[in-house]
Amino acid sequence: MSKKILVTGGTGYIGSHTVVELQQAGYEVIIIDNLSNSNVDVIEGIVKITGILPVFEKLDCVDFPSMKSFFEKYPGIDGIIHFAASKAVGESVQKPLMYYRNNLVSLLNLLELMPQFNVRGIVFSSTCTVYGEPDNNPIDENAPIKPAESPYGNTKQINEEIIRDFIHSGAPVKSIILRYFNPIGAHPSAEIGELPIGVPQNLVPYITQTGMGIREQLSVFGNDYNTPDGSCIRDFINVVDLARAHVTAVERMLTDKSDEKVEIFNLGTGRGVSVLELIDVFEKVSGKKLNYKIVGRREGDIEQIWANPGRANNVLGWTAKESIEDTMVSAWKWQQRLRERGVM
Ligand code: UD1
Repeated sequence: MSKKILVTGGTGYIGSHTVVELQQAGYEVIIIDNLSNSNVDVIEGIVKITGILPVFEKLDCVDFPSMKSFFEKYPGIDGIIHFAASKAVGESVQKPLMYYRNNLVSLLNLLELMPQFNVRGIVFSSTCTVYGEPDNNPIDENAPIKPAESPYGNTKQINEEIIRDFIHSGAPVKSIILRYFNPIGAHPSAEIGELPIGVPQNLVPYITQTGMGIREQLSVFGNDYNTPDGSCIRDFINVVDLARAHVTAVERMLTDKSDEKVEIFNLGTGRGVSVLELIDVFEKVSGKKLNYKIVGRREGDIEQIWANPGRANNVLGWTAKESIEDTMVSAWKWQQRLRERGVM
């Protein structure tokens, strides 16, 4: 019988791509999402790709009684992938309590309910932000955790600690913590992708929306960093590659391939690409000249960070495969699809 996986935040950007990969790998998927930052139409996109309608419940993980009823309604869930969280750094500075409540209480509720309903494992979405400004690159999982720069970053650090403490207490639960670098791009079918609400804060949606004429001009935040071209460097990872890593992680967690009860993996390509290099790639694959200007640095930005993904490569048996060119092609194709559909 196929294993049943609960994906919280499954209509979101990374969540929806992961649902597709899980279904294609034969898992039965149940999505819950409060739709605070996504649209239920995403499910149609998923069905167009896989031909399988996932169960969907509009639910907020913060609501304990509803979550308990949910687990009663859907017995036999084997594992959880927990994406549901608020993720805008700037907003978290403005509304810290909202971020602490959403991101901490959601996890607490899930962890409390897991043993009651015999759910054996949870894959947790974390971020390379926990490393702060690295002393060296590429960065591996043993690098020190630096004090968080924002309430958002702090919620991810605290969540990692909550998971470790809970498992250390002897709870009958396993966990894999995945630290994402910078996920970009969309499914090659352009049926699903990133749909930021309002003005995008992240680089790639801003690039593609500028390319489409939705935004007049991209601001590049700083060209006076200590990097070869002066712009910041990131490890941009294709979202489908990232989604595939979740399937591998779930498989490892639920088949006892490891005695470790908590494992941490960096998910990145191992290559650093600068903001200006990424703009070049976009111009090359889209054939468009991007309207951008260099402005001052953005507060709180890290100068350069890229992953040492060796542990994920060797232990999980997962490697990021897609090229940066194909990834930007997918991001552009998705932006064009949104135009065709009249979304933006
Ligand atoms: C940010 C968050 C990170 C979060 C991630 C989610 C910070 C410090 N980090 O990562 O915690 O997990 O988003 O995706 O906010 N840039 C421009 N112009 C723009 C937008 C971005 O030049 O309009 C530059 C930024 O200065 C940065 C790079 O592009 O150098 C990437 O920015 P972004 O996509 O926002 O990701 P991060 O800041 O790396």
